[in-house]
Amino acid sequence: MTFRSFRSFKAFPVMMFPVILIAIPLVVSADLRPLSRAMLANLQATNAIGESLAVEDFTGVANAARELTNRAREIQTWDVSKLGFRPSDKAEFDAYLKLQEDIAEKIGRAASDENGTLVVAGLGDLLNKSCLSCHKAFRDRQGMLKSSTLFMTSFVSAWREINRGLLLNDYSVAARGARSMASVGQIMSWDPIIRSTFNISDTAARNKFRGHAANLVGAADKIEEGATRGESDIIEKGLAQMWNAGCLACHAEFR
Ligand code: HEC
Ligand code: HEC
Repeated sequence: MTFRSFRSFKAFPVMMFPVILIAIPLVVSADLRPLSRAMLANLQATNAIGESLAVEDFTGVANAARELTNRAREIQTWDVSKLGFRPSDKAEFDAYLKLQEDIAEKIGRAASDENGTLVVAGLGDLLNKSCLSCHKAFRDRQGMLKSSTLFMTSFVSAWREINRGLLLNDYSVAARGARSMASVGQIMSWDPIIRSTFNISDTAARNKFRGHAANLVGAADKIEEGATRGESDIIEKGLAQMWNAGCLACHAEFR
């Protein structure tokens, strides 16, 4: 199959992945998952602000901004030591969240006034003063970066790319998304990655993990095949297999 050999070229940029990931020791004993989940929602709301603004949907902007405000308030009530931070970090951590809360409120007011210029200014402030500043201070602190999240965010964006391709009726976009999902899935199957990034020391468990990853790669291959042949029923089947045998099966056991 020509697309198989082609993939190895396309996969080259993601080959940088293990270099970065193996370099990050996973010394996190705390549970960062609630924070990961909140952050993915933060990203979604931030994207929603931009996408709504682009079509002058100010109600959409206001709703997404309110979500960011509420989430920032909620996280300020969390016990930071459960996330693996020192209690003395709480004041600084909360200061960035307070900025998220206040700036998102400002964006909401600008949206009510249908003032696009102020929304754009607010979005810039939000990213710089809150999101990026907090990431600089906390995400890269030793052991705080969950590299497993990098894999999952790349799965989510590959899946989005597949959907976008289907909706645009552009199969080459869907094929590209499937190919990158397969490549990342293959890297996730490497033993050193499973050990260091996902922290699974038991050999039998690693084999099971690899089995789920292989199912994901198989499903992504099927999606790519369907996209290359322009057959949407193959893509449908591939997507169902991706969710059931890949994402959901592995999450049920390992997340
Ligand atoms: C109070 C600090 C703080 C604020 C404010 C904050 N983040 Fe985060 N964010 C973090 C930490 C810590 C992590 C690492 C968690 C992990 O690795 O699971 C993270 C991780 C992420 C991730 C996960 C992806 C990855 O590569 O690890 C995304 C996406 C993200 N943040 C988006 C945002 C957006 C968008 C905003 C602003 C609207 C924001 N964050 C505001 C602390 C913050
Ligand atoms: C082989 C195992 C495996 C496969 C396959 C897999 N995941 Fe995950 N996923 C995990 C693990 C383990 C975590 C928890 C990561 C952590 O907290 O260290 C996770 C976490 C996540 C998260 C972070 C949010 C949360 O609640 O922790 C998202 C989003 C996610 N996965 C999406 C996906 C999607 C979408 C797919 C399929 C396209 C997928 N994953 C396939 C193992 C897998």
